[in-house]
Amino acid sequence: MIISINGKITDEKKACIPIVSEAFLFGYAVFETIRTYNKKVFRLDDHLARLYLSADVIGFRPKWSFKRTYEEVVKVLEQSKRWNEAKVRVILSKNRLIIMVEKIQEKPQDMYRKGVKCVSFQGKRNLPHAKKLADSFSYVAKNYAESCGAYEAILVDQKTYVREGAYSNIFWINGGELYSTNKEILFGITRETIIELAGKCNFEGIKFSSLLHADEVFITQTTSGILPVTEINGQKIGDGKPGPVTRDLMKKFDALVWEK
Ligand code: PDD
Repeated sequence: MIISINGKITDEKKACIPIVSEAFLFGYAVFETIRTYNKKVFRLDDHLARLYLSADVIGFRPKWSFKRTYEEVVKVLEQSKRWNEAKVRVILSKNRLIIMVEKIQEKPQDMYRKGVKCVSFQGKRNLPHAKKLADSFSYVAKNYAESCGAYEAILVDQKTYVREGAYSNIFWINGGELYSTNKEILFGITRETIIELAGKCNFEGIKFSSLLHADEVFITQTTSGILPVTEINGQKIGDGKPGPVTRDLMKKFDALVWEK
């Protein structure tokens, strides 16, 4: 892994921040997970725009400007060219910019071919538009999903409306039409890309009980792209296989991100 702290490349074992920093004590910092495809970084502008929006939402003005952060990420990426597909984590606190680059661990192909299992988890993330370190709710939800043998937890609010995944956005398809909610979620960069590729998306909410009867469901996330969801709470979605609209969007997404 390559780690840069405030512009200095640091050895992984020696990289540290003061234990009394707010970032450590309260998780008071924001972050982005970004990735490269064929050495090209995907939608860096959008990710960094969301990073600064997140800082604004939780109420701090970073010492590092957008422009300097952008230049620093590009510089660190230049030094990490040994990996074609890299995962880039950018953490921004009041006084620090931390960039971590490592080889991405791609998900097994079977997850794309057969789809993944999800479980519901009650509640929603606090300050959902911000991607912040202090998001232990997502961590708890994801742990719960894994303890059930599922890949992801679907967050369901008090009124039983579906919000997002613990670490992903959710889409569903009914009668050939694409749907996603836009209420109190993290606006994922992959989600935006899918909406652009689909050309049309309905933003009506859905109750969890109706999601179980959707024709198709999929989740989106930077590191894994689109993953079909074929089972929720032990119930098959559609015929239990990735559906045609999902597969078509997966093809279009792949063509876009791997384009030379
Ligand atoms: N997670 N919703 C939540 C709560 C997330 O944490 C994420 C991203 C998304 C999808 O956003 P994007 O398409 O920009 O990755 C939605 C990342 C991958 C993470 O936590 O590392």
